[in-house]
Amino acid sequence: MSLQNQLQRITAPQIRARKGGEPIVTLTSYHTHTTRIIDPYVDCILVGDSLGMVMHGMETTLSVTLDMMILQGLAVMRGSEHALVVVDMPFGSYEESPQQAFRNAVRVLKETGCGAIKLEGGERMAETIRFLTGRGVPVMAHIGLTPQSIMALGSFKAQGRDEADWAPIEKDAQLVSEAGAFAVVIEAVAEPLAAKITKDIPIPTIGIGASPACDGQVLVLEDMLGLSERVPKFVKRFGSLGDHIRGAVQGYVDAVRDRSFPAPENTYGMRKK
Ligand code: KIV
Ligand code: NA
Repeated sequence: MSLQNQLQRITAPQIRARKGGEPIVTLTSYHTHTTRIIDPYVDCILVGDSLGMVMHGMETTLSVTLDMMILQGLAVMRGSEHALVVVDMPFGSYEESPQQAFRNAVRVLKETGCGAIKLEGGERMAETIRFLTGRGVPVMAHIGLTPQSIMALGSFKAQGRDEADWAPIEKDAQLVSEAGAFAVVIEAVAEPLAAKITKDIPIPTIGIGASPACDGQVLVLEDMLGLSERVPKFVKRFGSLGDHIRGAVQGYVDAVRDRSFPAPENTYGMRKK
């Protein structure tokens, strides 16, 4: 297995060192071709378990497997040479024990060559994060709305919109930082709380539905490109790729029907004798 130039890339410690500096630009990617396009622009590429919904039409991320993450992680590593690639640990692959998390995280690192893994959970995952980071596994944490807990939460909704709910989220941030995470994703958290956490903890915060004050931002690529049909409020569509594809497909359909495609330049003639 080739581990594509791991040391020439941006590393987890370099991202960690950017606390309070230039915003850390992150996008998700699951495929080689989209990775090739975004790699020169971004600092981090997240192979998110959102691929279950985006690529496979699953309703939640709960059915995503470790093998799916490794397959897409490899595809992303093959398409990139610059960004730090972070691969999500899927539901059920790390929560049981620090040992289970280590065993599966090492599979991801070895089999893909990626530079870090991400897992969901604050206080409840702190011991596991300490176990992993103490043994050479760079960990990005993920707090606030954690989609793998959807069945326990009941619905996707923003966190910390009442000040009474702030303390546990602040504690989550504090504990993942102390446990050695090099950065933390803060998802769907009230803006002032995300800004406060960013000020209070020494590691970079990567916001999604959080605050412009965060040390970085992340969005799901298909969502920001305008490919996804329904997107949460926190997504801004920076493109309209869905319309672009519909236009191209209509052009193809018309050209096939009126036999203007394939044109002579798209066909093979006979060799001149
Ligand atoms: O799976 C994913 O894409 C994520 C980001 C939205 C942070 O975890
Ligand atoms: Na995820």
